[in-house]
Amino acid sequence: MARLAAEIARHDHLYFAKDAPEISDRKYDELFRRLVELEEAHPELRAADSPTRRVGADPVEALPSADHVAPMLSLDSSYELGDVRRFDERARKALDAEVVQYVLEPKLDGASLELVYENGVLARAVTRGNGRVGEVVTENVRTIRSVPLRLVEDKRAAPALLAVRGEAIVPISEFEFLNRDRRRKGRPEYMNPRNVAAGALRNLDSRTAARRPLAVLAFDVLAVEGGDAFATDRQALKALKEWGLRVPERVRTAESVEEIAAYHRDFDDRRDELDYDIDGVVVKVNGLPQRDVLASTSHHPKWAMALKFQPRRVAMGIRAIETQIGRTGAITPVARLWPAKVGGVVVSNATLHNREEMERLDVRAGDLVWVQRAGDVIPQITGRVRRGRRFAMPEGCPSCGARLVERGPRTMCPNGLGCPEQLEAGIVHFASRGALDIEGLGEETVSQLVKHGLVKELADLFDLTAERVDELDRQGATSARKLVEAIQMRRTTELARFVVGLGLPGVGSATARDLAAHFRDFATFRDAPAEELEEVNGIGPVTSRAIRAFLDNPQVARAMDNLLAKGFELAPPPAGPKDGGDEAGAWAGKTVALTGSLQKYSRAEMKQRLEALGARVASQVSKRTDFLVAGANPGSKLARAQELGVAILDEDEVRERLPAPAPSLFGADTP
Ligand code: IVH
Repeated sequence: MARLAAEIARHDHLYFAKDAPEISDRKYDELFRRLVELEEAHPELRAADSPTRRVGADPVEALPSADHVAPMLSLDSSYELGDVRRFDERARKALDAEVVQYVLEPKLDGASLELVYENGVLARAVTRGNGRVGEVVTENVRTIRSVPLRLVEDKRAAPALLAVRGEAIVPISEFEFLNRDRRRKGRPEYMNPRNVAAGALRNLDSRTAARRPLAVLAFDVLAVEGGDAFATDRQALKALKEWGLRVPERVRTAESVEEIAAYHRDFDDRRDELDYDIDGVVVKVNGLPQRDVLASTSHHPKWAMALKFQPRRVAMGIRAIETQIGRTGAITPVARLWPAKVGGVVVSNATLHNREEMERLDVRAGDLVWVQRAGDVIPQITGRVRRGRRFAMPEGCPSCGARLVERGPRTMCPNGLGCPEQLEAGIVHFASRGALDIEGLGEETVSQLVKHGLVKELADLFDLTAERVDELDRQGATSARKLVEAIQMRRTTELARFVVGLGLPGVGSATARDLAAHFRDFATFRDAPAEELEEVNGIGPVTSRAIRAFLDNPQVARAMDNLLAKGFELAPPPAGPKDGGDEAGAWAGKTVALTGSLQKYSRAEMKQRLEALGARVASQVSKRTDFLVAGANPGSKLARAQELGVAILDEDEVRERLPAPAPSLFGADTP
């Protein structure tokens, strides 16, 4: 068991600290499983440093506290190089030295931690707490693969006692992975990697902690007993590394403020290259005896300081401003941003704090603002770069470039069917279900036809050949032939549908039906003076004038002549209520409601038909309802109709009461 444990520990170290595995994951799993088996058979032999402890232990009620072996002080920190200069002057003076050698390291933005090894075995891990007393988080830390459970002694024997200070971090890539997962599950996202690290360290269930992608970087020896003392920080770091601990990258020495400044500048420029957050560089006196001379205040050592980075500031666009309600009931305005990276982390939200801050910043959706992410805090909006531009209508038509004109509140392209997008929209409408209902002539196809110049006006539809259509992208020979047939079939059509298809201003399907019923012939309708149009139900002076203007527009007139030249047979509607047909008469003036799904028609078609016969189709059932037409799976209207004693008809009964079919080619289903 001891041999297996040592072997697994060696592979952990190769994999997690050195990034140079020697065996496959499968082989590793085999070793691991074997050890688990042995430990299950002999639980009394399970070692404190067994790699099986990596998976976590039973949850605890609370975390006990413990004194640190040596106090964990803070760091004095500043953004000003001048402070580093003064720090260096003080050190040189106190040490009575011309030059002092410093160690430079990245300042890791994670959760501080003390690791205590007794005779080479990880005995305790304690959070920083108040610096003297912290929380014991040994079980959680045992799950962190970069922390050796037993020090590697290949090159150097382990001391009787070693206390090390390090920082628990979560790699940015892992952090983003975690948040993607949380987003997908609809759970609130973590604020930043540091919070995840601190939370995982203090989790009461070490099996949960085991699933968090933590790493520990060790950078300071707090105490050694029963082993060689170190003379310098560099020596100590080297030893930590040899014992299998992970140490910070890019550690350098420097002997002047200029070198420190260059290191700081270089790191600031390149901090995005690291996969973890750093918020500055740490400058420490390298010589350990010199550190003793310099000593510490109760708060921080006088032999070290941090030179922090200015927080990252990025100009970002506000997509929207929304509010969030917190646990305390406070409403916080939050800016939703167009996502962008700020200091290596993708930011898409920033807090606006409260009403006062909102007023001070005066930001609105559409604005470009400065967003900064200062280490551990939520992204902040610190000011406005520029006001979002107000939207202005373009001067030229976005499709054909024609100069736009203003008609009352509307901006219009005057180019009519000469404008490709208007032509497309017109054709799509002409072919739509309520109009000529041409199967296969949807937006996509129409757009292709217009773009390739196959259709320059409505009439061209009827000159399309299967060969030409087939040349278009995404058209197979069969579908091309079907499309051409579907178009040709519609040269025989109901007059009302043809009128709908023209897209006359103010004319919907009901009015089109009334127009068709009134004029019964397209030429008569086309030449009708405004006064006669007004005789039709629902057409007032405004609509009649608009219709006349449309029909008289030379461009429209020409397009219509060309279209009619293709030869249309336009069937007038069957005898309507005014003509006194018995069945039709049964519907005139009646109020009808529809519920459930019908077999032969869509609800919309049924509505159209009934309206064409003079019925009013209401959306609700009331005392005034004459009939309820109920299809399959009726809704609550059925119960309501029963309650009110409203006559209920099924689909067949309705069809019996509809007038005889008109001659048309509208599909076999259409009566
Ligand atoms: S040396 C107190 N080196 O920064 C002197 N500290 O703001 C020993 N920190 O919680 C600390 N990276 O844990 C040192 N490379 C580094 C560091 C580092 C991060 C943390 C430290 C403390 C905080 C102080």
